[in-house]
Amino acid sequence: MKNVIILGASGNIAKHVTDILVNKNDIQLTLFLRNAKRLGINGVSKCHIIEGDVLNFNQLKEAVKGQDIVYANLSGDLEAMAKNIVKAMEETDVKKVIFISSIGIYDVPLKPVLKPYRKATDVIEASELEYTILRPTWFTSANEIDYETTRKGQPEKGSVISQKSLATFIAKIIESPEKYIRENLGINKPNS
Ligand SMILES: NC(=O)c1ccc[n+]([C@@H]2O[C@H](COP(=O)([O-])OP(=O)(O)OC[C@H]3O[C@@H](n4cnc5c(N)ncnc54)[C@H](OP(=O)(O)O)[C@@H]3O)[C@@H](O)[C@H]2O)c1
Repeated sequence: MKNVIILGASGNIAKHVTDILVNKNDIQLTLFLRNAKRLGINGVSKCHIIEGDVLNFNQLKEAVKGQDIVYANLSGDLEAMAKNIVKAMEETDVKKVIFISSIGIYDVPLKPVLKPYRKATDVIEASELEYTILRPTWFTSANEIDYETTRKGQPEKGSVISQKSLATFIAKIIESPEKYIRENLGINKPNS
C-alpha cells in the first residue's frame, strides 16, 4: 500500500487527481485541506481527511509522517509553504514530492504574479528531496487528455492544458514515483 497525501486537496487539479486515484487499491489517499466542507467528491469516504494549514508546521509535519508521496497543489504564500514542506519531509524522512508551479517562472523580466511560484520552485529544487516540479500552461476545462512535457532549460511550449491532462500526468507520477525524480517539467497541450 502506498500512502499519498494531497496538500490543498480542495483545489481544482487536486480534485481531478483524487477522482482518478480514489479507486486504486494500492493507494491510501490522505486529503489535507483547510476546510473539509470544500471537498464533496465521490468516494472521499475512502480517504483519510485532515483539516490543517500548510503554514502551520506542526500540523503539516504530523500529516506528512508515514507518507510515501506528498503532492502539493497550493496557492498563496508558496515560498513559505515550500519551506515548511521541505522541512516537514526532511524531519519525517519522506522523499518524494510533486509540486505544482507555473509556466513563465524563468521569464526575464519575471511577472510579479509569478514570483511566489519561482521562489517556491527554487526552495524545492535546493532540497535533497526526490521532487517532480510541474510548470503547467493555463488551464482549460476541456474534456481531453493531450499533453507533452518540456525539460528545464528548454523553451516552454504551448499556452494551455486541460485540467484533465494535468491531473492524468500527476496521477501517473504518483503511480510510478521512481520516474521523473529531480525533474522540473513544463507541461502543455501540443500545438496550443
Ligand atoms: N489556473 C491556471 O491556469 C494555472 C496555470 C498554471 C499554474 N496554476 C497553478 O497551479 C496550482 C494548482 O491549481 P488549482 O487550480 O488546482 O489551484 P486552486 O484551485 O486555487 O487550489 C489551491 C489550493 O490551495 C489551498 N491552500 C491555500 N493556502 C493553503 C494553506 N495555507 N493550507 C492548506 N491549503 C491551502 C486552497 O485551499 P482553500 O480551499 O483552503 O482555500 C486551494 O484549494 C495553483 O498554484 C495555480 O495557481 C494555475
